[in-house]
Amino acid sequence: MKLTSSLLLLACISCPVLCTNKLQEHFQWNIIDFEYPSDEARLQAILTGRFKPENGLPVGIEVWNDKLFISVPRWKEGIPSTLNYVPLDSPVKNPRLIPYPSWEANELGNCEKGLSTVYRIHVDKCDRLWVLDTGTFGIEKTTQNPCPYALNIFDLRTDQRIRRYEFRPEDTNANTFIANIAVDLGHTCDDAHAYFSDELGYGLIAYSYKENKSWRFSHSFFLPDPLKGDFNIDGLNFQWGEEGIFGMSLTPPQADGYRLLHFSPLASHREFVVSTRTLQNSSRVDDSWNDFFYLKERSDLSHTTSRIMDDEGVQFFNLIDQNAVGCWNSRTEYRKENHGIVDKDDKQLIFPADVKVDRNRNLWVISDRMPRFLITSLDYNEVNFRVLFAPVEVLIKGTVCDVPKRLEEKIINLNDVRHITEIPSYGYSQKIPFQGYSQKIPFQGYSQNIPFQGYSQKIPFQGYSQKTPFQGYSRKIPFQGYPYLG
Ligand SMILES: *[C@@H]1O[C@H](CO)[C@@H](O)[C@H](O)[C@H]1NC(C)=O
Ligand SMILES: *[C@@H]1O[C@H](CO)[C@@H](O)[C@H](O)[C@H]1NC(C)=O
Repeated sequence: MKLTSSLLLLACISCPVLCTNKLQEHFQWNIIDFEYPSDEARLQAILTGRFKPENGLPVGIEVWNDKLFISVPRWKEGIPSTLNYVPLDSPVKNPRLIPYPSWEANELGNCEKGLSTVYRIHVDKCDRLWVLDTGTFGIEKTTQNPCPYALNIFDLRTDQRIRRYEFRPEDTNANTFIANIAVDLGHTCDDAHAYFSDELGYGLIAYSYKENKSWRFSHSFFLPDPLKGDFNIDGLNFQWGEEGIFGMSLTPPQADGYRLLHFSPLASHREFVVSTRTLQNSSRVDDSWNDFFYLKERSDLSHTTSRIMDDEGVQFFNLIDQNAVGCWNSRTEYRKENHGIVDKDDKQLIFPADVKVDRNRNLWVISDRMPRFLITSLDYNEVNFRVLFAPVEVLIKGTVCDVPKRLEEKIINLNDVRHITEIPSYGYSQKIPFQGYSQKIPFQGYSQNIPFQGYSQKIPFQGYSQKTPFQGYSRKIPFQGYPYLG
């Protein structure tokens, strides 16, 4: 009896309220194929070995209007194009990939004009596609570097490349491997920064669009946790013990106007956070150790390679050990009890390699069985690659990430109280969760519809002080804040 009920409880916790199959399969492929100008051209490419269909593995996705972008790294020979798209409204379930913006722009080893290998990509609100070309061919020990790392930015409205920026030699090192990108848009399209995680070289590179310049941070938080390097996925046991800083996501702007970058090493169950106020300042490179904070560990089986936070502050991350996608609402404290599972499927979600949220607030996921592809081989008689999606609202419903906007109901009309010098105890303060990052970075709150300034004498809060995490009452700490934009 006891066993049954605790099992039941466990089932409820790990998968509350019918969590399977919320994600709808939109595309599925047994094998990747490309849209050649003609059947002859395709056949010719296969006969000459320029196209080896069995060597293609889709890894990164992004959605813009009616295009679904798909990157295919050149880990092996015979990948004709690394950056591609398919029309979202394709009449078939397994559309052929169309090189973006053209075949020529995907030429391996053409450093100036072509892309050699692309992993994760990002569309910003200014209709630009941010693409990091690693310049590589091959994987792990076999990797060759015909070209340097270079950021390419495309204007999606004209399909023209509008920027190519080669990383400085100091931005990378002999071990560098970068597969993730986060793009941080300020108030104008010019006011944009991108951050790149160097997984094996253990660095974080920042790029300023306005200045067309990059710089690199180092930190021990970028290193893997030596105890978290063992993986069991898709029936395979393997070790990714050296994998450091990888997946990243950006919060909505905080009280001071800057976002927070959340990141996690791949061989780790921990997440770290740093303000983009620090990252955007190139003179902080050697003097920012204490600006990086650590959050509580996730639960077991929570290796993650990709994450995204939507405009409302809900973060989604792939749970590669669980064939699942997890969520966390940044209105709540970052700890395992506040992490939910939005969907889990031991067939459709084997290695969910990338997660993205589109402008209509749908979550998109690609699953690709990457470990099997790398360690053994895929069976091309079955479906190996899937693109799935669901509205965020549907996914988080019934999970811990579905945090009600209780403030709007609760809050007395603070518009009448423009200048608050002391937060009055209206009786709601105990119930309002918020998080802060101490003296230098104002906290984020959810209670207010208006900017306010004062002393948080009555409101309990949680946050990180200069160095040590603590929890308590901020009786002594003056702050100035704007409401969290969620
Ligand atoms: C940005 O810097 C790159 C150097 O990698 C240079 O080739 C390019 O012309 C610059 N672009 C702009 C718009 O300044
Ligand atoms: C950048 O950091 C330097 C050194 O800490 C500081 O003096 C400067 O004010 C910062 N710049 C900005 C724009 O915050």
